[in-house]
Amino acid sequence: MPASLANKWVLITGASSGFGAAAARAFAREGARLLLGARRVDRLEQVAAECRKLGAPEARTQTLDVVSTASVTEYVKWVQGVAGSLDVLINNAGGAKGLDTVANGKDEDWEWMMQTNVLGVLRMTRACLPLMLKNPGSHIINIGSVASRFAYEGGSAYCGAKAAELQITRVLRLELCGTGVRVTTVDPGMANTEFSLVRFSGDQAKADKVYDGVEPLTAEDVAEAILWVANRPAHVCIDEVVMKCTDQAAIHKVHRRTKA
Ligand SMILES: NC(=O)c1ccc[n+]([C@@H]2O[C@H](COP(=O)([O-])OP(=O)(O)OC[C@H]3O[C@@H](n4cnc5c(N)ncnc54)[C@H](OP(=O)(O)O)[C@@H]3O)[C@@H](O)[C@H]2O)c1
Repeated sequence: MPASLANKWVLITGASSGFGAAAARAFAREGARLLLGARRVDRLEQVAAECRKLGAPEARTQTLDVVSTASVTEYVKWVQGVAGSLDVLINNAGGAKGLDTVANGKDEDWEWMMQTNVLGVLRMTRACLPLMLKNPGSHIINIGSVASRFAYEGGSAYCGAKAAELQITRVLRLELCGTGVRVTTVDPGMANTEFSLVRFSGDQAKADKVYDGVEPLTAEDVAEAILWVANRPAHVCIDEVVMKCTDQAAIHKVHRRTKA
C-alpha cells in the first residue's frame, strides 16, 4: 500500500526543467507541499503555478545555485522558515557539459560537472539533514545516471561525477542507518529533456541528433519512478533504480529506426 505524500514537504533541486519539473508535477498530483529550487526563477514560477493547479497545497520557489555554499545555506534557511522540517529531498540539479575526450577536455566543463553533480549533492544534503533527522521515514532521493555504472568515450567527467554520486548515496545510507532516513539513487539512461541542449551549449541540432530514431525516456517516465520510490511505506527503502528506454540496451547499444 503506497504511503500518502499528501501535505509532505518535498524539496526538489533543478525543478525549472526536465526531471525536476516533471517530479514537481507528479508530487503535486499527490497533494505534496513543494519547495522548488533552481537558478531560473521565472521558470520555477511557471512550474509552481502548474503544481498549484494540479493539487499542491503549497508550491514555493526560491533561487538556488547548488554550486555555491552561500546560496545553499540561504536556501535551506528559507526552507526552515517556510516548512520547519523536510520529508523528501530530491537532489536532481545537474547535467553534463561537452563530450570531449580527456585529451581535449576543458577545465570549466570538468569543474561545472563536479560542482553541480557531486558537490551540489553533498552541500544540499549536509544543509538539509538537520531538517530530516527529526522526521523518521524521510527520504533523500539522488538523481544519478547509467553513466555512473557504464563508461563511454567523451564522458570522463560526467561518468566520474555520477559514479561519485552513486558512492555518496551508498555512503549516506550507511551513515544514516538507524535514523529512519532513507536514501535512494534513481539512475536513468537517455531521456529527452534539456540535458543535451545544455551539454552542447544550446546547439539544438546537435542535441536532437542524440535522440534521432530513438524513443527515449521522457521526464514523466523518470518522475513516475521517483514518485514510486518516495511513496513506499516508511520501512521500505528502494536503494537503487536503473532505468533505460527499451531502445537503449546498453550505453553503446542503441536501436535507431531509419526514416523511410
Ligand atoms: N536527460 C538525461 O538523459 C539524463 C539521464 C540520466 C541522468 N540525468 C540527470 O538528471 C538530472 C536532471 O537533468 P534533466 O535531464 O532533467 O536536464 P535539464 O532539463 O537540463 O534539467 C537540469 C536542471 O538542473 C538545474 N541546475 C543546473 N545547474 C544548477 C545549479 N548550479 N543550481 C541549481 N540548479 C541547477 C537546471 O536549472 P537552472 O538552469 O534553472 O538552474 C535544471 O532545472 C541531472 O542530474 C542529470 O545529470 C539526465
